[in-house]
Amino acid sequence: MKAHEIKDGVYWVGAVDWNLRNFHGYDTPRGSSYNAYLVVAEKVALIDTVKAPFADDMLSRIASVIDPARIDYLVCNHVEMDHSGAIPRLLAAAPQATVVACAAGEKGLREHYHRDFPCRLVKSGDRLELGGKTLSFVTTPMVHWPDNMVSYLAEDGLLFSNDAFGQHYASSERFDDELPLQLVLEEAQKYYGNIVLSYQVMVGKAMASVAGLNIDIIAPSHGIVWRSHVPVILEHYGRWTSNQTEPRALIIYDTMWGSTEKLARTIGDAFENCGIPSRYFNLQHTHISHVMTEVVAARYICVGSPTMNNSLLPSVAAFLTYLKALSPKKRVGLAFGSYGWSGQSVDQVGEYLRDSGFEMMEPVRTKYIPDEETLSKVRAEVERMLEGK
Ligand code: FEO
Repeated sequence: MKAHEIKDGVYWVGAVDWNLRNFHGYDTPRGSSYNAYLVVAEKVALIDTVKAPFADDMLSRIASVIDPARIDYLVCNHVEMDHSGAIPRLLAAAPQATVVACAAGEKGLREHYHRDFPCRLVKSGDRLELGGKTLSFVTTPMVHWPDNMVSYLAEDGLLFSNDAFGQHYASSERFDDELPLQLVLEEAQKYYGNIVLSYQVMVGKAMASVAGLNIDIIAPSHGIVWRSHVPVILEHYGRWTSNQTEPRALIIYDTMWGSTEKLARTIGDAFENCGIPSRYFNLQHTHISHVMTEVVAARYICVGSPTMNNSLLPSVAAFLTYLKALSPKKRVGLAFGSYGWSGQSVDQVGEYLRDSGFEMMEPVRTKYIPDEETLSKVRAEVERMLEGK
């Protein structure tokens, strides 16, 4: 396997996981990649590694450039095992290499691999001279885990951003200008909505701390490298981290006998009558990680469930648990649902959305099967509520 040179003396030496379809609950129909980068100057540094089963791919790509034994530094930007999993194999191939990590990174590595290794601790602003190239570091805790940092190669304006700006996308292309931009942005938005969203405050701080850098290339740890659309992805992250949303309604629901679905359609009609486009997601047919892609950019989040056994349908409960943990902000929520006798589901949906920090509209509920007159009243009521939003 060959390395791909992304800049003079800088090579992509990662692995493509064409078969990944689930990343701890995140549906990944387009697979992923684990990006490791080799920086060859007088000294040689490897930025991150790959998931353990792909260690041979990485080592063979490194060997297409240099003998892996020549690696002087192994920079660990993130301990999660999709990036650190091949460290034991790398250290076996490069026994004189020094691991470079922040304090939380070193601790995390020791707690994962339970072995000794030489480590150079770095903090924000520290530099590592490679002779002709200089790496510097910015710690970005909780831009997924406490151990995250990014590395910057000043001479090349190259930011190794780890999880930030990544996408779960398997491809033989390596750059953003080799694929349709809309497709790459869609995967970047899905990645943000499912991995990064929960840490939006820290991502905003991390973006501020690298704002002064001259960035020509962003090389994340998943997916393609940004070289032609750096301002575009930075602008998108700026919008996402500040919760700038579009006036669009997501109608997310499951249904038992069709009544909650009738409410869903009626609520969507009401939004459209007010000039707000709607998108419908029946959770029997749409994976929750895809819904989260849409939540990143939508202002109105309407969630519906009938009452079953005094509770929610499990699909809706799973979505709400996922949503609450990812905690998008500055959204308007609407709970709706049908019931036969007890009717707890609508209040339970409302509680989840309120706990997520949403501003709530009055809930909408119906008993058994709504007739046209009831649906007209629901439509009018939602339109009335929307006038104030
Ligand atoms: Fe791609 Fe948080 O690891």
